[in-house]
Amino acid sequence: MRAVVYDRYGPPAVQRLEEVARPVPKHDEVLIKIHATTVNRLDCATREANRRSGLAVSLITRIVFGIRRPRRRILGSELAGVIEAVGATVNEFAVGDHVFGATGLRFGAHAEFICIGENARLAHKPSAMSFEQAAAVCDGAFNALSCLRQAHLQKGQTILIYGASGSIGTAGVQLARYFETDVTAVCSTKNLELVKSLGADAVIDYTQEDFTKNGATYDVIFDAVGKHSFRRCRGSLKRGGSYLATDGFRNLLLALRPWGIGHKKVRFPSSMPTKKDILLIKGLIDTGKYRAVIDRCYPLEDVVEATKYVETEQKTGNVVLTVARR
Ligand SMILES: NC(=O)c1ccc[n+]([C@@H]2O[C@H](COP(=O)([O-])OP(=O)(O)OC[C@H]3O[C@@H](n4cnc5c(N)ncnc54)[C@H](OP(=O)(O)O)[C@@H]3O)[C@@H](O)[C@H]2O)c1
Repeated sequence: MRAVVYDRYGPPAVQRLEEVARPVPKHDEVLIKIHATTVNRLDCATREANRRSGLAVSLITRIVFGIRRPRRRILGSELAGVIEAVGATVNEFAVGDHVFGATGLRFGAHAEFICIGENARLAHKPSAMSFEQAAAVCDGAFNALSCLRQAHLQKGQTILIYGASGSIGTAGVQLARYFETDVTAVCSTKNLELVKSLGADAVIDYTQEDFTKNGATYDVIFDAVGKHSFRRCRGSLKRGGSYLATDGFRNLLLALRPWGIGHKKVRFPSSMPTKKDILLIKGLIDTGKYRAVIDRCYPLEDVVEATKYVETEQKTGNVVLTVARR
């Protein structure tokens, strides 16, 4: 089968197409013919061993994924496709089923085929979604869900989402609405209409207005794009409020302070998404409460170009790779 592989940590160009062996499903796994996958920030950060996040984080990345070179040669953490074969004990899926899901840190989705356990984060594809749309659901949704859960959101609370137009941000706006909070979304001018259409109650164009200076306060501030900081926005948090971070070693250290800072708390995502979570998101898609935002689609062979675009940190929503030759 064709797959995008990389044998050393480095820039986007370390990735190349190669013929590799097609995987064979174990008794509790399904073999999926992948139709679409994505290039996301997790792929990019892992491919360069989190070099930009500092020495400590880079070292931890190498301990997890391979000290000198990556142990897993194929990136790609989310996908949509068709079941090609099933293991002997698989009950939930059958050959021909259309599915979508996430492999997370196991990666492997930048390929024509993949094996996934039936109990992993895999579900039947919502019928109204294309493979491209379904492939782009999980990464943003799972990251946003994991962050939002840290805040124990209550109906009617106010949340400001900074970076509302990225993969995690577009998911965050929709999920914060699902938790029945009052959502203020912050993004640049070109994305204002998009985030409104996702359900934001109010929008702020950060090129025109600094939300930290307008006097408004929120129960929760979700920095969905890692471009703000607790220090800069703590004045916009209500007493007892939470700042939700998506990354940053400093945020992790601040989150470890059990009593918070000045009656306000930094929270860092800690839970791993589960099968239950993909079923929750599928339910929201089926009832029209969730959609994946797609910026661009590239064929698998253009993975380097797609990656370079993701690394501009300016994509709106998600970047998809189409895989199957139809
Ligand atoms: N995706 C993952 O798997 C993953 C996993 C762990 C952690 N993270 C971290 O989570 C964060 C978000 O990831 P993502 O994939 O959602 O990001 P993303 O999709 O790459 O974010 C792109 C968006 O960020 C906005 N943006 C760029 N610069 C900005 C700024 N200075 N202020 C506000 N918004 C800005 C742009 O929209 P505008 O033009 O509207 O500003 C663009 O739409 C990153 O820090 C990433 O490292 C991601």
